Amino acid sequence: MAANEEHVGSLKQQLAKLFEASLRTTVPDELDVEPLIAACNPRFGDYQCNNAMSLWTKIKGKGSEFTGPQPIGKAIMNNLPHSEMVDKCSIAGPGFVNVVLSKDWIAKSIQKMLINGIETWSPKLTVKRAVIDFSSPNIAKEMHVGHLRSTIIGDTLARMLEFSNVEVLRRNHVGDWGTQFGMLIEFLFEKFPNVEVVNDQAIGDLEAFYKASKQRFDSDPGFKERAQQAVVSLQGGEEKYRKAWAQICEISRRGYQRVYQRLGIKIEEKGESFYNPYIPRVLEELDKKGLIEESEGARVIFIEGKNIPLIVVKKDGGFNYASTDLAALWYRLNEEKAEWIIYVTDVGQREHFEMFFTAAKRAGWLPAGENMYPKTNHVGFGLVLGEDGKRFRTRSTEVVRLVDLLDEAKSRCKAVLVERGKADEWTEEELDQTAEAVGYGAVKYADLKNNRLTNYTFNFDQMLNDKGNTAVYLLYAHARICSIIRKSGKNIEELKKTGTIVLAHPDERALGLHLLQFAEIVEEACTNLLPNVLCEYLYNLSEFFTRFYSNCQVVGSAEETSRLLLCEATAVVMRKCFYLLGIVPVYKI
Ligand code: ARG
Repeated sequence: MAANEEHVGSLKQQLAKLFEASLRTTVPDELDVEPLIAACNPRFGDYQCNNAMSLWTKIKGKGSEFTGPQPIGKAIMNNLPHSEMVDKCSIAGPGFVNVVLSKDWIAKSIQKMLINGIETWSPKLTVKRAVIDFSSPNIAKEMHVGHLRSTIIGDTLARMLEFSNVEVLRRNHVGDWGTQFGMLIEFLFEKFPNVEVVNDQAIGDLEAFYKASKQRFDSDPGFKERAQQAVVSLQGGEEKYRKAWAQICEISRRGYQRVYQRLGIKIEEKGESFYNPYIPRVLEELDKKGLIEESEGARVIFIEGKNIPLIVVKKDGGFNYASTDLAALWYRLNEEKAEWIIYVTDVGQREHFEMFFTAAKRAGWLPAGENMYPKTNHVGFGLVLGEDGKRFRTRSTEVVRLVDLLDEAKSRCKAVLVERGKADEWTEEELDQTAEAVGYGAVKYADLKNNRLTNYTFNFDQMLNDKGNTAVYLLYAHARICSIIRKSGKNIEELKKTGTIVLAHPDERALGLHLLQFAEIVEEACTNLLPNVLCEYLYNLSEFFTRFYSNCQVVGSAEETSRLLLCEATAVVMRKCFYLLGIVPVYKI
């Protein structure tokens, strides 16, 4: 992180500071009024301040010197402290203050970023520590394409929050404590009567193992009974059962780890079992607060507006998904001291989250107000569909395994590179690395570019297309910029120190302004928990660049130095976008 005085924050924040000063002079008594800054119609300027109308509604009839919103707008404009940021201002309609930014200031800001690093453009969020609960597959079941969404959306959110100076605890809330373990353990004992601890090879495909045991469970009442007894033994802490459980978890874990490694995902496992010891006292606290009631033999929390209550202790006395989530929330708030807790799962689980969030509010763990901390958010996402418009499956109607999917993305990319003759130019390692970067990047980007709530269709041909809004197109665009700089033969590090950026051409200015908006876009993507906002920004950036590059000659022109610096700034911002989206950039193609 760069030293504080170099950290400038987002363009919008800087502008807001100026307008805040003006507001304090214009309406000194209205201390709670915060500047409302928005991008504006490019015909009138770059940004506008929208405070005049609401201020007028607030102060009219109270003996104010102002006679309407427009005079207020004018006063806000006139009281704006002098700043090199602003080129000119004007008033529009009923008091909007339009601002045209100074292009010299834009140029200078970009140049400073090139010298001090893109971190100086990171947004500053008010939250200090967040938990992101994502990926979270269930032990013994293979991770499939549905888990892909949680994994990559959660990872991107973590990266964006970290960039915005938030400490993020990345949590893998794996399902490692359900009743399915009785069945799995009993089946394990049955298949391997003489071994207490078996290795991966013996169990083989864990998913097949799960299915076989499920079949046994459903068809044999005697087995079912033994399986239910095994749960009791496991939860009672019996050594033999604990060991078998740990063994099964470990095999699953190694499988997940292979996927995480390929996707570059960092995550720390704190599974359901971790919170188990906390459940009794958490429920006791909720009981003391009068939240828990008896209903049809179960212990439940009734939630206003919901027909069914949240069950926290089952009829048989066992705990469940909800009791675990309540204990986990308690832990995250009290032990980990997180101010923002974010859960990434499919939209199908929205109700579950709404219910226990409401319970937590009733318990006084969370404030009742909307934008107050600590706060929780459910980040829901839609389905991944196949070409037939149904849930994405392979022909055998099995779920698609994530590893197979990644293998295919990579091998398709590699084939394209070989077709382009890269096998002769590059080493085998370069070929593999590029195929992975492009292939995995394409899978991630195809997911992230959609609003997460919508379903999307999984289509290799589309996501691997080198035209249109795909990672392939964007990665190629970045590599091309790098090659422009390389081929100029200039030392870009030298130019950063000695050269000056001048934004004379309108396409240069447009590109420059877009670059400068990077921080506020990341901030927006973080606050609304929407990675697609960043994807859209990145795609537009490549469009602004293309326009600039087709209308402004770079190499060999009189403006070469300035334009090379603009190329470099574009590459730097693109790379940061890739990084935040979990995509590995490529430098040549
Ligand atoms: N294991 C769950 C599933 O696969 C997701 C867990 C999400 N996190 C949570 N705290 N409930 O559906």
